[in-house]
Amino acid sequence: MLRRHFLGLSGALALSPLLAGASRAAEADHVLKAAPATARLMGPDKPATAVWAFGGSNPGPTLRIPKGKPVYVRLDNALAEPTSVHWHGIRIANAMDGVSGFTQAPVKPGESFDYRFTAPDAGTYWYHSHHRSWEQVARGLYGVLIVEEDTPVAVDHDLQFVADDWRMDDNGQLAGNFGMIGEAAHGGRLGNWLTVNGDTKPKLTVRAGSRVRLRCVSVANARVMAFSFPGLNPVIIALDGQPLTTPEPIGTALVLAPAQRADLLIDMPSTPGTELMVHEVSVGEPIDAAAFTLIGPALRDKPLSEPLILPANPLSAFAPELAQAEHVELLMQGGAMGSLAEARFEGKMFDLRTLAMEKGRVWAFNGVAGQPSDPLVTMQRGRTLTINMINDTRWSHAMHMHGHHFQVIERNDKPVSGAPWRDTELVEPGDKVRIAMVCDNPGKWLFHCHMLEHHMAGMGTWISVA
Ligand code: C2O
Ligand code: CU
Repeated sequence: MLRRHFLGLSGALALSPLLAGASRAAEADHVLKAAPATARLMGPDKPATAVWAFGGSNPGPTLRIPKGKPVYVRLDNALAEPTSVHWHGIRIANAMDGVSGFTQAPVKPGESFDYRFTAPDAGTYWYHSHHRSWEQVARGLYGVLIVEEDTPVAVDHDLQFVADDWRMDDNGQLAGNFGMIGEAAHGGRLGNWLTVNGDTKPKLTVRAGSRVRLRCVSVANARVMAFSFPGLNPVIIALDGQPLTTPEPIGTALVLAPAQRADLLIDMPSTPGTELMVHEVSVGEPIDAAAFTLIGPALRDKPLSEPLILPANPLSAFAPELAQAEHVELLMQGGAMGSLAEARFEGKMFDLRTLAMEKGRVWAFNGVAGQPSDPLVTMQRGRTLTINMINDTRWSHAMHMHGHHFQVIERNDKPVSGAPWRDTELVEPGDKVRIAMVCDNPGKWLFHCHMLEHHMAGMGTWISVA
């Protein structure tokens, strides 16, 4: 009773503008300072790399926040340019979504911004700059956001595996030329150096026989990565933060498109001293990504084998109502070797060459390049929306919806059932993927390709929920 009363009261306080002003003096739960920093991305015996960072490290500090309770994170901008923070995958209040120039003004150098929000769903999320993200994320402005389950999940180790794809020069510094239009018309800024947790081939030390929850996050600008775990049998227990009702083995490799997450459950062998490599296998020869080092004494003689199913999130209560749904099409066009001849940009038609050379845009949705002034669709709150994404380009796109999770319900016109909830879906060249979601979160929400150069060069639209 008391507890409920207290929660009710704090909810009421948060809604009162007067009292909210008064509580601004209160300490933030977390402070993220964005500033230039150095990081030993290439390992301890190589030169440190100049990066931009939250909290002085790469990745930025892992924020652990409770589910369903208000948190206050203050951003202090000590960069020489504006920035903002987007809480990727959180069904957040619109004003806190962190999209500079859209849901908030860019946070100028020397200024601060108070992010106050409640994360309704437990799981693995991330935060990143949403201001010139193709450069700011590439320079390192991101970190992991963990929304904790109400009761701790029964694992022995809770580890993160944050994969980034950097482009380094010969001196171990970030290569310049961010946001090149030529690259944006292809696969985006692909790197030449892989880090995991801001390190090169880190050793992840775990007890032999332990049960590990590995929170995998791709923070790459553009590369679709794939990880194999020879000698281990990882099982996916959550995707994009949301628990799977039926955990699934990864198969030959875990594919992670930019911004996607997967929580893996890995039961380690019981022999201490073993070292097990994780490989990145998306291109040709496998690359060593990280290694698990098993130390003794073993926690168990025999690894656990029973499945682990994470507690359901409030999200799982939403069932898209397809019979009454609103349907829209999203024709994805443009890029190199594509068929797009011309597109509308800021109300005028341009041929593709002029669009690329003068406007820096090479991609279009439904014939419009860049973020349109009108939304793709306006939805009444609570109604179901389906979007049929038709990839008429020669490139893959990692489509991300802000403020909502969705389910794939059709692939190439064939129904799909029981698909996981996601916030980012990889759409392959030539594919048609229809997603469905319940638009229960009022506000204006970006829907864009998370290959950040693609977004920069035109692959972004938005929906409005009234
Ligand atoms: Cu992870 Cu619009 O972003
Ligand atoms: Cu794309």
